[in-house]
Formats: sequence, structure tokens, C-alpha cells
Amino acid sequence: MSDAFRQLLNAMIAHLDDLAAHGTRFVPVAPATLAALATARPWRTMPAKPTVSQPAPPAVRPMPKPPTAPAAPAILNFHSPPAPLSPAEKEARMAALRERVLPCRKCEHLAAARRNVVFGVGDIHSPLMFVGEAPGADEDAQGEPFVGRAGQLLTKIIQTMGLGRDRVYIANILKCRPDTPGQTAGNRKPTPAEMHTCLPYLLEQIQIIQPRVMVALGATAIEGLFGRTEGITRLRGNWLEFQGVPVMPTYHPAYLLRNQALAEKRKVWEDMLAVMTKLGLPISEKQRGFFLKA
Ligand code: URA
Repeated sequence: MSDAFRQLLNAMIAHLDDLAAHGTRFVPVAPATLAALATARPWRTMPAKPTVSQPAPPAVRPMPKPPTAPAAPAILNFHSPPAPLSPAEKEARMAALRERVLPCRKCEHLAAARRNVVFGVGDIHSPLMFVGEAPGADEDAQGEPFVGRAGQLLTKIIQTMGLGRDRVYIANILKCRPDTPGQTAGNRKPTPAEMHTCLPYLLEQIQIIQPRVMVALGATAIEGLFGRTEGITRLRGNWLEFQGVPVMPTYHPAYLLRNQALAEKRKVWEDMLAVMTKLGLPISEKQRGFFLKA
């Protein structure tokens, strides 16, 4: 079994446990999925790649998706895209999820140290979702992801793409700030156990938003989503796929704050140009030329 599949399986089990803990007794599963589970071991028989959506006209609003047969929740359904949700269904499901996440105390040490749960921010109808690592001190204080120095740089990147924070969705692998006992400042990387515990919430957010493209910011976002640890330098700039959604790995903005070289900025910008192309967003000549040597 690959690491990615094991990660997905663990996340699915945690998600089902969470649903059960909140009173869910039945989960709809498409007949085709049941048949596939009964006849095959999915890690041997998963199709190479689910279909990836085509570039859309230059608009950020999601394209209407063709109706599909009743489907299982995406987490159980490895073979077909998730059933489309109406805007009202998305709003209701995201609000219900927020209600469950805000009082979460699954990681007691993080719950004891936090000031706020940092749920996520932005447009839940957006086709574009950014996934970071975990809240830092500023995010913990304000209850909003990416509001510190790295966040301000991310906001600039989003604006340079011709968008704004209110037109994309931004979330983290972890919803609580990793605690730093004995220290008043500083950040630490989330542990695998913390990521494993928190990931089902992000998975639900992804299933509700159904983005057409995701951007994974930094190595920890990639590790959280895919269980891959080979490093962002090797992975950035190459499309991955998470539950049928194309994912662009790129450097975390905090890295660009530490390394101000034009060439590094250009790499991130090229990743964003690829994202814009995939979404069918307009790209001006000026935008194409950003961070190239004069
Ligand atoms: N870094 C992250 O990965 N996420 C935040 O929300 C802030 C900083």
C-alpha cells in the first residue's frame, strides 16, 4: 500500500470515527463503490487518474458541473467525482462543520494552549483553495489563517494573480497553533499525529468547497495531504492530484521571506501562472514577466 493511500485510508477512518462520535449512524455509499470494494482491493485497482476538469473561461466563479449519479461522499468514492453541492448546501455544511471544529479538543495540549481555532477564510464557492501548514501566533490571536508576515506576502501573491483573499479559500492542515511549551514566541512544525487528527476537518472543507485547483504551500502542506516527505524543492512546480483535484505544490511564503532571491520569487510566480492557466484566468504580458531579470 502506498504512503498516499495509507494516509487517505487513515484520514477516512478518522473522519468516520468523527462522524460516528457526532451521532451519524449511516453513510451513503454508491452501489458502484460498494461493488468495487467487494470485488477488489482498491489500492491495487484504483484507476490511474480520475478526469481532471478542463480550463474554464476567464472567471473565478465555479463552472456548473454536469449532473452525476448519486454518489458516496468523496472520501469513500475513489472512482467518480463528488456530487455537486448547491451554494446553499455548501453554506449549510460549512457552517455545521465550523460548529463542530470550533470547540474541538481532540489534541488537548493544543486546545489548552490556543487562543482561537483557525478554521479557514474566504469564498467557499471559489474554484481555488490554498492550503498552508498551521496557524502561527498572529493567526492564533486573530482566528484567521495567514494574517502575519507570511500571510501578508500570500495576500500580495493572490492579489498579483488578479484575485483577492475574498475570492479564494485559505485553510491549513492544522486548525490550532502548534504549542511551544516554555516559550512565548516561535513556531514549530505540526507532528504527524496532530496532522492525522486534524486532517479530516480539512478533507471535509475540500469536499464542501470542491475546488477546481488547490495550492499546497510548503513541505508540511504536502506531507499533510499526501504523506510525502521528499521535500518541496523537488515537488514544487509539478502538478499532483488529491481526490481528483489538481494540486500545485509551491514554496511557503515564509520561505520567500527568508530567501529574497529574485529566482525563488520567480519559481513561486511560475507556479501561480500555471494555476491561473489551469483555471482559465486571464494573464497579462506584464503578469507573465514578473520577477524576471531586467
Ligand atoms: N503559516 C501557515 O502555514 N499558515 C498560517 O495560517 C500562517 C502561517
